[in-house]
Amino acid sequence: MSDVAFGLNPFEPGYYDDPYRQYAQLREHDPVHRSDLGPWLITRWADVHTVLRRPGTSVDERNLPEGRRRRDRLVELDPKRADRASHAILNIDPPDHTRLRKLVSKAFTPRAVERIRARTAELTDEILDDLARRNEPVDLIADLAFPLPFQVISELLGMPEGDRDQLRAWSHTLTQVLDPLLVMEHAEAIVEASDRMVEVVTAAIAWKRQRDDDDLLSALIRAEDDGDVLSDHELIDNVTLLYLAGHETTVNLIGNGTNALLDHRDQLERLVADPTLDANAVEELLRFDSPVQFSRRIALEPFEVDGHRVEPGQMVMTGLGGGPTGLGDSALVQVGGVQVLLTSQRQQAMGTDMFTKMGCDLSACRLVVVKSSQHFYASYSKVATRVIYVDGPGTLTSDLGSLPFRKVQRPKWGIGSDVT
Ligand code: HEM
Repeated sequence: MSDVAFGLNPFEPGYYDDPYRQYAQLREHDPVHRSDLGPWLITRWADVHTVLRRPGTSVDERNLPEGRRRRDRLVELDPKRADRASHAILNIDPPDHTRLRKLVSKAFTPRAVERIRARTAELTDEILDDLARRNEPVDLIADLAFPLPFQVISELLGMPEGDRDQLRAWSHTLTQVLDPLLVMEHAEAIVEASDRMVEVVTAAIAWKRQRDDDDLLSALIRAEDDGDVLSDHELIDNVTLLYLAGHETTVNLIGNGTNALLDHRDQLERLVADPTLDANAVEELLRFDSPVQFSRRIALEPFEVDGHRVEPGQMVMTGLGGGPTGLGDSALVQVGGVQVLLTSQRQQAMGTDMFTKMGCDLSACRLVVVKSSQHFYASYSKVATRVIYVDGPGTLTSDLGSLPFRKVQRPKWGIGSDVT
């Protein structure tokens, strides 16, 4: 199989250790690739940047021809889904998108954002202190990168206490709906997880409506713009989206970012010497090992990408993952490795950055990556040099399933000290 999905072959041995090699090949030889499966795959920085912002494109998959929609398989399994379009802002176009984003943004006040940052700082210290007291091997993903953002987003939304492991499992399954490979393979599990998640979120909304809490979910319920409010369906879909988007991505930023800094010790040392580099460093880590590898746009009218004509109803997958050589932007081609001092990374890991435009930022993640990489550097060695991925073939995200460490005595910080 050489064209399994959009010109990438995730079944090729070693793909998950370094998907960026295949992106670099595409970028060089076939930067506007037409897959046998239908969608275009574009991998060059400038093309991605243009297409993501192009008027006359859509993120609503109802604009794809029947048989090409990711939801088709889910509707086949559960026909009542046919009448229930997604209201999540990730999947809708203006003017609905503009209206919903305005309402959702109202919940992301500067106070709410500061609360995320403060709570993240507190929880990071608690978890790292707890790890320091433990002697057994620890796992960067299971012990820190996953529970921390999950806890923060759950508290932030003010979700009722429930079976968090179960919620976590459903939300992980649900993100597979966005993955062109996994949506087919896991369709039944996705339908089941989606039904259960809707039940939980619906019950949480009903519970919140009886209370006068000061949290994001209550703020979303109360959000009002000139008499306009979020309908029940809109609330359910956008709370679910925030729940998923708020942790599935940040788990990867914390895990991949810490891992990359541990692999580039000179860069970590620069960061320790000058903590004001943190924002720059996180931008660079987003470029180097992007938590989300693709976004997408559907053509509503014909347009050209580098001489290739995209027809209405065709999907363009936009590669966001840079890897060591960047996204083919001339300034970055020769970068190689992580460079926390670079000021021109121009990562596109968050697509058009809608999330920061909603009023939120990544300062909480910056803090975790800096603290965790220092902590892991100072006290641990990687147990395995090869990382362990969570789900097997899947192309949407770059997520480590597990990254175990053992404790070592490494009291002296600085260049020349031993690190694995
Ligand atoms: C490392 C962190 C993150 C990454 C890499 C990331 C990545 C992305 C990407 C690639 C998109 C699609 C953008 C496009 O196609 O133009 C997106 C959209 C979105 N993200 Fe994130 N995200 C991150 C963090 C978050 C967090 C923490 C939240 C919520 C608390 C969030 C909420 C959203 C929402 C609501 C959208 C849809 C926005 C819209 O369409 O207006 N994201 N994100």
